[in-house]
Amino acid sequence: MTKTILKALAGETQAVPPIWMMRQAGRYLPEYRATRAEAGDFLSLCYAPDLAAEVTLQPIRRYGFDAAILFADILLLPQALGAELWFETGEGPRLSTITTPAELAKLGGKDDIHDRLAPVYETVRILARELPRETTLIGFAGAPWTVATYMIAGRGTPDQGPAHALKAADRATFAALIDLLSEATIEYLSAQVAAGAEVIKLFDSWAGSLKGQDFTDFALEPAHRIIAALKERHPGLPIIAFPREAGERYIGFARATGADCVAIDNSVSAEWAAEHVQKDGCVQGNLDPSLLVSGGERLIEETRRVVRAFSGGPHIFNLGHGITPDADPENVARMIEAVRAR
Ligand code: CP3
Repeated sequence: MTKTILKALAGETQAVPPIWMMRQAGRYLPEYRATRAEAGDFLSLCYAPDLAAEVTLQPIRRYGFDAAILFADILLLPQALGAELWFETGEGPRLSTITTPAELAKLGGKDDIHDRLAPVYETVRILARELPRETTLIGFAGAPWTVATYMIAGRGTPDQGPAHALKAADRATFAALIDLLSEATIEYLSAQVAAGAEVIKLFDSWAGSLKGQDFTDFALEPAHRIIAALKERHPGLPIIAFPREAGERYIGFARATGADCVAIDNSVSAEWAAEHVQKDGCVQGNLDPSLLVSGGERLIEETRRVVRAFSGGPHIFNLGHGITPDADPENVARMIEAVRAR
């Protein structure tokens, strides 16, 4: 039996689309909050293989999603390269900044990451053993641009201003950072696949803020390079790309990068994406995550609308972005029922 997610990624149209959710292991679940409290803090949870595997499995047990996504964070890679990383409670990530050639030179190379990331690979190995046989295991990394925006600013930023500023002021240093991240990401993801990840997803959450040639140079090209290298090392490996808020630049992104599937955010309509993006292959998305907070009849109607819009081609049902901590776990069950009751 081929797993439903792998069928979709191979281009198969299915009567009931497979389903998983970005951030499906997270604070909206009481069992996640309990395990996180046991770990102490978020980063300790990421680096404790037994507990990270446990929170990865929680939404699978509760809802029977078709895929599990490794519990980790895109900012573990910069930490493995030598950046300092911590999370300010209620605010988000903080990192030591990289804005000069000297700071860049202090980072490790692409092959120096594995000692630090060994617990993540161990989490993958546990999951490959313990997941139900019908559930697909997804590994992931942040795309170079998105990770660079955090490394340059030292935190999350609404408009990625500091990264755009460095790109304008010192393009060589900026491009060297993107290069290092591209190479390190290939090694990191390759190690996840060796440990048992069956599908890889590349998160470019801030791709939408790259304009014109910058989008080609720093979103499309790095994705192409990473995907080509991974597919050379792991023939047949399915890869999902998520150039969030790419808008019209979603069109042709799969073909240009070699991705098997493009994840669509909810700033574009499912009908538009079905017409313009799904003709190139599998798409993933794109229910508005705020509907899992508000619930009600609109949640059901919008869920059905997304399923219907993408029903003519290969589709993995998902949200347009991560589920938020204020979402109601009951609404997740209602959404899944609406997807599967067909
Ligand atoms: O999807 C999953 O469930 C897999 C695990 C995962 C996490 N982060 C866990 C997490 C994945 C794939 C990510 C990706 C990630 N991390 C992205 C790209 C995707 C996106 O959401 O745009 C980004 C930008 C980050 C960086 C990051 N990590 C931020 C900005 C924050 C703070 C915001 C917040 O929600 O608190 C995190 C923390 C984080 N990563 C949490 C989780 C479950 C919340 C931590 C907690 O308090 O328990």
